[in-house]
Amino acid sequence: CTLSKVTPYDLAAEAATTLRNLTGIPSFDVALVMGSGWVPAADAIGETVIELAVTKLPGFSPPAVAGHAGTVRAVRTAAGLNALIFLGRTHLYEGRGVEPVVHGVRTAVAAGVRTVVLTNAAGGLRPETQKVGDPVLISDHINLTGSNPITGATFIDLTEVYSKRLRDLARAVDPTLSEGVYVAFRGPTYETPAEIRMLRTLGGDLVGMSTVLEAIAAREAGAEVLGISLVTNPGAGLVGEPLNHEEVLEVGRATAARMGVLLAQVVDKL
Ligand code: HPA
Repeated sequence: CTLSKVTPYDLAAEAATTLRNLTGIPSFDVALVMGSGWVPAADAIGETVIELAVTKLPGFSPPAVAGHAGTVRAVRTAAGLNALIFLGRTHLYEGRGVEPVVHGVRTAVAAGVRTVVLTNAAGGLRPETQKVGDPVLISDHINLTGSNPITGATFIDLTEVYSKRLRDLARAVDPTLSEGVYVAFRGPTYETPAEIRMLRTLGGDLVGMSTVLEAIAAREAGAEVLGISLVTNPGAGLVGEPLNHEEVLEVGRATAARMGVLLAQVVDKL
């Protein structure tokens, strides 16, 4: 017998077919990945058509982290776009490898999506200018996860991972938005003070444990990416205060209204 290997791209195409069948929506326009602290903001984006456990779709695993719902919501926006909202994501630190981390983005693109909005909670490396609860546009990233979702000699250009056009569009919605370079570690440990000092020297403005691998997968697939961090702990590792996941989620609850309006207005301009 011949064993044909199911690639991650095949699996994403399969998940997209199941998604179309279960939602009755033939094609999606935009996908949003709601990171820690962003889930409460999802309701503002549009009218829910249907919300499914991700485990209904091939290749998705149940969420491992509190505050990550593990559902995918099909939404109709005010402007008439079909949006796909992932309420939670798979992280590299869960130990399942890199493919599950980017499966949502690949599924979304296979379902028609051309614009991917990636949100996350991040430590702020520039406490001089960042306040708790600030949204910051990701202008670029430094991938220190030690992983990459692409294997083989596929040389993808990353000179503009985070679309300048989409950042400008977001700033047209909220001119107070600042920009920064997001550094990703694998986690799940938060950074040591020495690591935080290193990241500042390297030119990082934000630090977290997600987003970069999804952004790379989206660019490989030719989708346009907007990344937004919610600064949950300015001065990460520098302020001498221990950090915990519950505090990260609490900032999201406190800023849900503002982040919801921001996302809804950005999506309506797409
Ligand atoms: N470090 C890494 N990930 C994070 C942080 C942080 O300080 N805050 C929220 N997610």
